[in-house]
Amino acid sequence: MALDIVIGAQWGDEGKGRVVDLLSESSNLVARYNGGDNAGHTVTVGEKIYKLHVIPSGIIHSNTIGVMGSGMVLNPQTLLEEMTMLRDAGVTITPERLWISDAVQLITPAHRLLDRAKDAALGKAAIGTTGRGIGPAYEDKASRRGLRAGEILDRAHFEERLRIHFDEVNKILVGWYKQPALDIETLLKEYLSCADEMRPYIRRIGPMVQEALKAGKTVLAEGAQGTLLDVEQGTYPFVTSSCTTATGIFSGLGIGVQPVRRVVGVTKAFQTRVGGGPFPTEQDGDNALFLRGSGANPWDEYGTTTGRPRRVGWLDLVLLKYAHEANGFTEIFLTKLDILSGLKEIPVCVAYERDGKKMNTLDFSGDARLMAQCKPVYQNLPGWQEEVRGCRKWSDLPKAAQAYVKFIEDFVGVPVKTISVGPERSAMIIKD
Ligand code: IMP
Repeated sequence: MALDIVIGAQWGDEGKGRVVDLLSESSNLVARYNGGDNAGHTVTVGEKIYKLHVIPSGIIHSNTIGVMGSGMVLNPQTLLEEMTMLRDAGVTITPERLWISDAVQLITPAHRLLDRAKDAALGKAAIGTTGRGIGPAYEDKASRRGLRAGEILDRAHFEERLRIHFDEVNKILVGWYKQPALDIETLLKEYLSCADEMRPYIRRIGPMVQEALKAGKTVLAEGAQGTLLDVEQGTYPFVTSSCTTATGIFSGLGIGVQPVRRVVGVTKAFQTRVGGGPFPTEQDGDNALFLRGSGANPWDEYGTTTGRPRRVGWLDLVLLKYAHEANGFTEIFLTKLDILSGLKEIPVCVAYERDGKKMNTLDFSGDARLMAQCKPVYQNLPGWQEEVRGCRKWSDLPKAAQAYVKFIEDFVGVPVKTISVGPERSAMIIKD
């Protein structure tokens, strides 16, 4: 029995797709358990680049089965687009290879419109959501009026529920947000046709995952977004609406609590964030350009889902330690170390100052208001000038780069086991 988990240790976009790609080579099931098409996992195989938002990215390996757990919110239209894209790329997608939980919550076009209207209405306090309808779909789940995938199995019932949903949202959009009315009949027709295509993939997956574990198979769970976007532990309210930490796996897949083999925390060698909310180590000007890139390269810091430039800053070790406390990482996977080549000194945040008090671990749960009052305390580590993209062994790295990695390990108390040093699949160092 082996359950491995890959978790974003920052505000998302840490390069989890890379890790999942590596680990899914030896996994039988690859599972998503939270979020929806707000996520963007980029995986490169040979010449091909796959951008996946809802289907577990590990499915590109022919040895795996993709599982979409009940903790997710799913837009059937995005699902079908991805199925087509994967099939065109030669990946087999059948109900035997892709299991969708009957308890997955569905996202509709009405949720998307509501998401955008709500965030726009917040004005300066906007969260900067991805506009994919994530928040409204989870709101419906919590208020127990959500549409679940299992309902699709009874077409007449589903049509009736869908009509009620569109009617309700229409009233809110028109009455409260002064938006144009929905064309309910067209939406119904389009959505029902997507639902028809999705039907063969829907099933109760908890017992199937449990059986696989009992039979000694390896299950890899890929977390979407990052710990600091968790609805409880993240920088609330500038968070997503799901549980993004390792703890969400059991409810998000519908399996009982059981031993976990690895919890891989993925972090960049610096910090990025998309959307609003506090970011103590954020940089602008030349430093930002250095870390973000100009946008000319595919690995520059621009959103996979929205194309927005990402906010960038120095590595925040206080937050990385906080992420470890929330997840219990057994190892760290450090990405994009190559970006830091060429700096004389590299600042890392080792403590915060708030109200004249210094702390090197948070004494509050994420709260954005309190975090905005925190001033970063930096330690400058020696930089390195060498290009590290060609390094494939720990001993190939410049001494200062090794010291940077060791500093992270010592501060957080978790070993860094793998380091990525470039966009190619092979640009990786497995550190013993
Ligand atoms: P939502 O998940 O669309 O509701 O967006 C809430 C916040 O989470 C916004 O700041 C988004 O930019 C951020 N967010 C959501 N998904 C991702 C992701 O996959 N990577 C990075 N940020 C994300």
